[in-house]
Amino acid sequence: MTQLEILEYPDPRLRLKSQPVTVFDQSLWRLIDDLFDTMYAAKSAIGLSAPQVNDLRRVMVMDLSGDASDPQVYINPEITKKALIGLVEESCLSLPGTKVNIWRAVNIRVRAQDRDGVFFERDLERMHAVCVQHEMDHFEGKTLVERMSIFRRLHFNWSRKRAIA
Ligand code: NI
Repeated sequence: MTQLEILEYPDPRLRLKSQPVTVFDQSLWRLIDDLFDTMYAAKSAIGLSAPQVNDLRRVMVMDLSGDASDPQVYINPEITKKALIGLVEESCLSLPGTKVNIWRAVNIRVRAQDRDGVFFERDLERMHAVCVQHEMDHFEGKTLVERMSIFRRLHFNWSRKRAIA
């Protein structure tokens, strides 16, 4: 049971791009286990990506069951199909207390590898689809802040600076 520290905005490490996983070994499996421990320890969390815990590998975990009964891991995920755009309210462990409405595909097909490197394809709907897209943004160094309107982003950064000063 290892809980990792979750980086919070505006930590510059959240802006780094993640790299594909090429080695499926003990170090990867430990990362996956730690990601699940860290996600489950955070109240009401449904997903977590490796760059949020300062590890630049394209690994994400997700569980929307509410009782830790549906752990899913996606390594090197790619979206191969997108349909049905909807406006969704999202939050992020790296931005505590912030909610942002984002247009996302609510129907996707994702291709990824499992913890042994085996490829699989899965159709995802609604919050499962949204969560995978959210975590994939982290791989590109993007958080919800980059998804805000320019006005909201300016105000958000300004009010944070004021709070710290
Ligand atoms: Ni996030």
